[in-house]
Amino acid sequence: MAVRLGHDAPDFTAETTHGTIRFCKWKGNSWAVLFSHPKDFTPVCTTELGAVAALKPEFEKRNTKVIGLSVDPVDSHLRWEDDINDVTGHKVNFPMIGDPDRKVAALYDMIHPNASDTLTVRSVFVIAPDNKVKLTLTYPASTGRNFQELLRVIDSLQLTARHSVSTPADWKHGDDVIIGGNVSNEEAKRKFPGFVAKKPYLRVAKQPK
Ligand code: BEZ
Repeated sequence: MAVRLGHDAPDFTAETTHGTIRFCKWKGNSWAVLFSHPKDFTPVCTTELGAVAALKPEFEKRNTKVIGLSVDPVDSHLRWEDDINDVTGHKVNFPMIGDPDRKVAALYDMIHPNASDTLTVRSVFVIAPDNKVKLTLTYPASTGRNFQELLRVIDSLQLTARHSVSTPADWKHGDDVIIGGNVSNEEAKRKFPGFVAKKPYLRVAKQPK
């Protein structure tokens, strides 16, 4: 069954480039990004893994661990890391799961047979400290992902977990937010002084600290 928003992230034990891990133990109380790529030694994937390596400090600032996966084995991942470093200038600094028996791919529904019978699609799962799945994305093999967008979503998820707000289209950290529908106008005056009601259902306020 597909892993959907609000589900508990399925736990698993797997071989990775950083040794054997039990996923939920490895993740601990952090946020996590679990993402799959179709195949080692392929061009788009090479650029993607370099991009994620470059953004590791940004994920760390957000208390977020990152882990990759493909159906290739760990020894292939390790050999490919040299190419990724050569091409992108970034050493892969996060674990990559080797999943040749497709156990984890099946658990997370990362193989979409009408796209490819054998390769994982470009899946992304963002998982909260309570192990609930907060975001799922699926991209085709031909389209490299925008990992800045992932950071933006994590900023929104972390903000909206702490405050009764949501974030509008194209929001980025520091922009105005939308006050939750469950907040009365009286409460909004206290919690979000100076908020603007553009419509009764669309009340805009400064981003809470
Ligand atoms: C790529 O990353 O470029 C790629 C992945 C799977 C199939 C073809 C290309």
